[in-house]
Amino acid sequence: MSQALLFFILLTLVINQATLIKDESCDVQADSYADCTINAGVFGVCQSATLDLTNSDLVKSCSSVDLFWNYPVGNLTLTIGPSQHKPYTVYIDNEKLTPYFSHVYRIFNGQETDVTTIDQKLIQYSDSNNQIILKFQGPSTLFYYGVFIEYDIV
Ligand SMILES: *[C@@H]1O[C@H](CO)[C@@H](O)[C@H](O)[C@H]1NC(C)=O
Repeated sequence: MSQALLFFILLTLVINQATLIKDESCDVQADSYADCTINAGVFGVCQSATLDLTNSDLVKSCSSVDLFWNYPVGNLTLTIGPSQHKPYTVYIDNEKLTPYFSHVYRIFNGQETDVTTIDQKLIQYSDSNNQIILKFQGPSTLFYYGVFIEYDIV
């Protein structure tokens, strides 16, 4: 390959990378590859991704959810409910989270509370609106190709 061509390819990659980095919050594209699974990702690099599963058909009547976040970068804010009209508790498999997320925050009335734990399960109770909003803090640059966020709803 000629030097000029190589240089051109590298330049194109750098420009693409630069235009794809977004600072504002971006909605996650979510689809399903099996019952109660979610394949989630954003186009390009987004430092602040949001996914609202309230009333989502993808997890309707699921008591156990496997969410795969593709190319995690920055923060993912996940709204788990209300999908049911009664209080519930979420048990997240924390052993799958800890290698990848430095912190997990619970968001309540716009306020963040650090709920990071080293326990096997990260346990969260729905609030008075039957809602649980969690923010997962991933690496600031691309580090690995994906992370599983697996939780049971009881
Ligand atoms: C992710 O969220 C944490 C906690 O609010 C914040 O300190 C951090 O700056 C955020 N990271 C990005 C890349 O926005």
